[in-house]
Amino acid sequence: MVPTIKLNDGVEIPQLGFGVFQIEPGQTSDKVKAALNTGYRHIDTAQMYGNEEGVGRAIAESGIPRDELFVTTKLNNDGHSHDDAIKKLDESLDRLGLDHVDLYLIHWPQPKQDRYVETWQGFEDAKKAGRTRSIGVSNFNPEHLARLAVETSTVPSVNQIEVHPHLIQAALRDYNSRHGIATEAWSPIGQGKGLLEEQTLATIAQRLGRSPAQVVLRWHIQHGNIVFPKSNTLSRVQENFQIFDFELTGDDVAAIDRMNADRRIGADPNDAG
Ligand SMILES: NC(=O)c1ccc[n+]([C@@H]2O[C@H](COP(=O)([O-])OP(=O)(O)OC[C@H]3O[C@@H](n4cnc5c(N)ncnc54)[C@H](OP(=O)(O)O)[C@@H]3O)[C@@H](O)[C@H]2O)c1
Repeated sequence: MVPTIKLNDGVEIPQLGFGVFQIEPGQTSDKVKAALNTGYRHIDTAQMYGNEEGVGRAIAESGIPRDELFVTTKLNNDGHSHDDAIKKLDESLDRLGLDHVDLYLIHWPQPKQDRYVETWQGFEDAKKAGRTRSIGVSNFNPEHLARLAVETSTVPSVNQIEVHPHLIQAALRDYNSRHGIATEAWSPIGQGKGLLEEQTLATIAQRLGRSPAQVVLRWHIQHGNIVFPKSNTLSRVQENFQIFDFELTGDDVAAIDRMNADRRIGADPNDAG
């Protein structure tokens, strides 16, 4: 039911997943189980979220074959070195109870530390060793991606960046796509705050008999973005999954594009970490 996108290394990733940022560690297993029961097969976690063990427990107890699941984790900001990138992935694998993840990301570039090139070389080695099927980055600007292109031999498979109708990131998405890098959109519904009350979304949602969140998620899908909305609420987990049985018109997509205000929720990639 959920379409996949083929990454630049041939690995297929489900275009919709479930994000677990800000889900309490003690609740994570139950929330991920609810998502898996709904049909989600792609989970996005991170070392920073402190809830990889809960993700792992839900996977183990689900009985779903490993090869039907797509699991992403991200390197913590204190792990920027060749060796720490590998060591910290092994620690994640222990917490997740897995022998490999599907995607491993550098969470933030931390350009002031200036170690992301060396860290990326650790990622290349982790992939060669089979501990992750794909490798990618998060919150990378074109100048960070350009350095990887010049100084290393692997183009990231994805760049996970903040994207929602208040920050549509047209230039960075275009850069990613011209370089064969898939765009993953974090906080795809703008963390639910304010954005979902906008009149443009209400009008489209009413016409289609959908919710504003479904309209925004569908806008991402039609732009080719990979999304993993988070919710602690079962009815929303289910609602966010029902986005493949309707379509926005070109005018709808353009109207949502025009909501752009270049307004971030999260940190500027040059400052974070
Ligand atoms: N790489 C990075 O730096 C980075 C940064 C941030 C996030 N991420 C990833 O992206 C994922 C998603 O981003 P996010 O968690 O920040 O924000 P989000 O998915 O855009 O929004 C989550 C918020 O929206 C609410 N919500 C969910 N579905 C809804 C619906 N159908 N209607 C109304 N409200 C709804 C949730 O409330 P309830 O939970 O109360 O239902 C929650 O407060 C994260 O979980 C994480 O995996 C990555």
